[in-house]
Amino acid sequence: NFTVWKTADPASAGKISAEIIAKTVIAKPDCLLGLATGSTPVPIYKELVAQHKKSNLDFSKVRTVNLDEYVGLSAEHPQSYHHFMMSNFFDHINIDLQNTRIPDGMAADLSAFCDQYEQQITNWGGIDLQLLGIGLNGHIGFNEPASVFTRRTHLTDLTESTRKANQRFFNSLDEVPRQAITMGIGTIMTARKILLVCTGIKKAEILERTFFGPIDPMVPASVLQFHQNVTVVADEAALKTI
Ligand code: GLP
Repeated sequence: NFTVWKTADPASAGKISAEIIAKTVIAKPDCLLGLATGSTPVPIYKELVAQHKKSNLDFSKVRTVNLDEYVGLSAEHPQSYHHFMMSNFFDHINIDLQNTRIPDGMAADLSAFCDQYEQQITNWGGIDLQLLGIGLNGHIGFNEPASVFTRRTHLTDLTESTRKANQRFFNSLDEVPRQAITMGIGTIMTARKILLVCTGIKKAEILERTFFGPIDPMVPASVLQFHQNVTVVADEAALKTI
């Protein structure tokens, strides 16, 4: 029960995905967008910024909630997802920062913060469109492989494989945070529409397991097989085995 867009390369995957997001914004100017970080969405934000500059795509009423954030990194830390969102997207569009939320990895009471975050999503009427990347181990947000699917926004330990995959952004493995705040699988599943973007040959195997393997919390993204409205945008390399 999902739609797949196959593109030639990551740049065109970015264009198609941006198109889908732009359509959502135009249809509902005060929509709630669930946003993602990582290298996969970079071309999407680039394209949305271009559309804002070229065609006045209007973000003034748009609200956003991000999937996740590292624990212990301040908003100003160059590898924090706060910093990512500002420099890749928010700094270049007419969004009202009051309408944006990113988990606070420096919150004094992390568990209370997670509850508030979840409440905010509900108060804003739920997520209209959730953008997702996928980790090499099938994680979405920072929902790592586990024995059960997680429910709501929570504090999580990062696996060694995820820390190693993200080491490239830090000076050493030691500097990569060990914990994160992430929306839960339950939070993600309540989004009315999901847009999963996946590019590159390295992701081919996990993409196949996600949509054609068993629904298994050891492959967190496989839960998307239960969602009613999933669009996958992937390049030829990621779709190689499908
Ligand atoms: C990170 C993020 C995820 C992201 C994934 C893949 O750890 N928490 O939201 O989807 O890893 O990242 P990339 O797009 O760089 O491969």
